[in-house]
Amino acid sequence: MSEFDVQDITLESLRQRTSAKWRVYDPDVIPAWVAEMDYPLAVPIAAALHAAIDRSDVGYRFIGELPEALAEHALATWGWVVDPAHVVVLPDVLTSVAQSIWALTAPGEGVVVNTPVYPPFFSTIRDICGRAIVDVPLLRDPDDRYELDLDGLATAFAQPDVTAYLLCSPHNPTGITPSADTLAAIAALALEHGVAVIADEIHAQLAHPGTVHTPFLTVASDGLTAVSLVSASKAWNIAGAKCAQVVAGSQPVMDILAERVPLEVTYATGHFGVLAAIAAYRDGGQWLEQVRTQIAANALTVHEHVVVSMPAVRYAAPASSYLGWMDVSAYGIGDDPSGFFLEHARVALSAGPTFGQGGDGFVRLNFGTSPAILDEILVRMSRSLAVRGAGA
Ligand SMILES: Cc1ncc(COP(=O)(O)O)c(C=O)c1O
Repeated sequence: MSEFDVQDITLESLRQRTSAKWRVYDPDVIPAWVAEMDYPLAVPIAAALHAAIDRSDVGYRFIGELPEALAEHALATWGWVVDPAHVVVLPDVLTSVAQSIWALTAPGEGVVVNTPVYPPFFSTIRDICGRAIVDVPLLRDPDDRYELDLDGLATAFAQPDVTAYLLCSPHNPTGITPSADTLAAIAALALEHGVAVIADEIHAQLAHPGTVHTPFLTVASDGLTAVSLVSASKAWNIAGAKCAQVVAGSQPVMDILAERVPLEVTYATGHFGVLAAIAAYRDGGQWLEQVRTQIAANALTVHEHVVVSMPAVRYAAPASSYLGWMDVSAYGIGDDPSGFFLEHARVALSAGPTFGQGGDGFVRLNFGTSPAILDEILVRMSRSLAVRGAGA
């Protein structure tokens, strides 16, 4: 049985929403930028939040059974054994990135990232944490498929001032989802060089059918300093509720977090976020299955549309999540084609150059929407390119 009907999702109803996705741009623009989906809230989550409002239960967060709910979900979904005593609850994944870097590295040390990558990583490492960014760009093959550069990681990890690796798995914006073998190789390299691994796994539940997400801590040995950053916010579309979880890979790592993560920061977590996350982990399975099926179908639609109607776009479909990373450089519309699409297609996309090296000439499309709205987005995009007559 369906949890919701995609036919009910219309631009008119979505424009009633007041979140950034729907309010930053003019009303004639279709927003396909920030990573937020257009599906209605899962009924068990809505019920938990409605019940909290009915109780006037809008005070400071109490984490209650959230660590246990996460542990049940992790075991059922990935066979990953999470010790509830190794879970730290924080407001969101970016705060978790910052707190992990602060806790596990020293000022000025290097943190490895793989560009093109989620833009706030740069400001979090450099501006918020005062650490150096060490880039090991993804490798890109002639079919535009990306992969992690294990040799490049080995070289970077061997630098004495490199002390942490901010892994993004599944990776935003490319959607690559590293295999267990690749992750095990990374864990071994990190252990050899004494590098801490901070694994951002916020998109973990959104692996497409046929793709297996491997939680990083399931391949890491106890001796490795590692944390996994997880949240119900991406998969169940509740980013505004503000709740993420840091899972420490071992007791010593948990001891460091317990000592160094300030209590006040844990209290910045939203109580609604905690309640929503518990409902998602315990009762959100059916909704998630429908969303995963829908975004996999949408991924196919995007791929087919690109092949047929935007043939000069270079594009490899993601293995996870609802973000499409498109190289439109052949159309000659500049390093940041998002401006062209905003002006000529009235579609708001994320700007490629903000994702760092390898982002010029790219846009990131959010296709977490209904098939009808996705068609409208794609038709607007391909028409604007056809009118320009470039690249074909
Ligand atoms: C890889 C990645 N990390 C972190 C975030 C931000 O998560 P949060 O809102 O929990 O800080 C996002 C949001 O899209 C993301 O894609």
